[in-house]
Amino acid sequence: YVIGIDIGTSAVKSVLVSGEGKVVCEHSEGYPLYNPKPGWSEQNPDDWAERTIVSLRRLMDKSGAKPSEVEGLSFSGQMHGLVLVDGAGKVLRPAILWNDTRTASQCRKIEQTLGSKLLDIARNRALEGFTLPKILWVQEHEPEILSQAEHFLLPKDYVRYRLTGSFAMDYSDAAGTLMLNVAGKTWSPEILQAFDLPMSLCPKLVESSEQTGTMLPDVAEAAGLLPSTKVFAGGADNACGAIGAGILGEGKTMCSIGTSGVVLSYESRKDINPQGKMHFFNHGEENAFYVMGVTLAAGHSLSWFKDTFAKNLSFDGLLEGIEEVTAGSGGLLFTPYISGERTPHPDADIRGSFIGMDSGHTLKHFARSVMEGITFSLRESIDIIRQSGKEITEVTAIGGGAQNETWLQMQADIFNAAIVKLESEQGPAMGAAMLAAYGCGWFSSLAECAEQFIRPAKTYAPNKEQVEVYSELFSVYQDVYAQTRGLNE
Ligand code: XUL
Repeated sequence: YVIGIDIGTSAVKSVLVSGEGKVVCEHSEGYPLYNPKPGWSEQNPDDWAERTIVSLRRLMDKSGAKPSEVEGLSFSGQMHGLVLVDGAGKVLRPAILWNDTRTASQCRKIEQTLGSKLLDIARNRALEGFTLPKILWVQEHEPEILSQAEHFLLPKDYVRYRLTGSFAMDYSDAAGTLMLNVAGKTWSPEILQAFDLPMSLCPKLVESSEQTGTMLPDVAEAAGLLPSTKVFAGGADNACGAIGAGILGEGKTMCSIGTSGVVLSYESRKDINPQGKMHFFNHGEENAFYVMGVTLAAGHSLSWFKDTFAKNLSFDGLLEGIEEVTAGSGGLLFTPYISGERTPHPDADIRGSFIGMDSGHTLKHFARSVMEGITFSLRESIDIIRQSGKEITEVTAIGGGAQNETWLQMQADIFNAAIVKLESEQGPAMGAAMLAAYGCGWFSSLAECAEQFIRPAKTYAPNKEQVEVYSELFSVYQDVYAQTRGLNE
């Protein structure tokens, strides 16, 4: 067996996976999220580590597997979160998470100081969620903390440190810090110097499938594992999500609709420029990359709609009969900017809209237009990737949006691409388990592992007529952003 561990924002999920790629057991343990001030989002790194050890113990107890049967484990983690530790590995302040928005002024400073070099080197724009702005916030507001810091780590790297006693960071997660030279795979001296940050703050860089150690004896005992269990670096949750969905080769793209929505496309070219409108990160596969667009409120828009206008219905109840409303929702159009947007519009102030309301519209029209608006927003990311010269003819759908037939067909029609639904989906934890399986030498590549572990269940082909209806509506959708951007300032 191998174990995949996903350090999420609300819980840690561990999966025990067999040599055939079957998830034989899984276990989740939750931990608190703290919002000490508006816009602040923090967690206690020791909670992640302690809950991970408990989750491993429960996983082993529940499954009945013998410790000697587990050859290795690896990680997936929430990206960008800042953990600062001193020389003894002690955590110096609560972790500042990816969804914390306190760093608007630090982002402006980064953009002004580095200018076009930021996109050239780090390949991404400065967003509040990323790590460098968080370090600059600590430098400005808590200089005594930063001066005690020996290393900065990302969430899963801290947990791995607690399991093995050694510091490391993999490229896929380091790419989300804004301090990595993404194409060159080194920390950028230029970026670090520009902000007076010592190179020693940055941990050693490794590949996601590289072994960084074995388990510390007391931790192994508490977790129900052997100290000889191999521990592999692991990757960012989006990279691991991609691996777990088989996005391992040119032409592979996925669309994940959960609370937020993600379009992610495999990229072997290191020099493409998605105009700074998309994220460009290192993949968990060696020497590969991915382009990613994020819709902040995807599933969140639909749950907001249900909670606000149809509280007494279940999700299934809300979506029942949705296929009877025709494509385009009878002229009703929704933009999902209810909590701002990230790509292609990095705009925290924009807000959503319904336009084209008619006295004949019912709750079903509204629900369908919310689903369409979310999917249009993701289509914007698909288009930017296509403009970079990539053909997208097939997209693997995962997440809540892949659980509804009408939504799957809608994705095919709005993206004008075949949509593939997988037989079973374990998300980033599965990608982490695959990194361990490949790291253990069970397969000669991650792609070979995916062939064994991941199976498609059904494909949805685009319907020509609906593609046309949606393509006309999409140009109206794209106009709404420009027309509404000033409203909330
Ligand atoms: C990616 C991002 C989120 C977190 C969530 O840029 O901020 O997907 O990784 O865990």
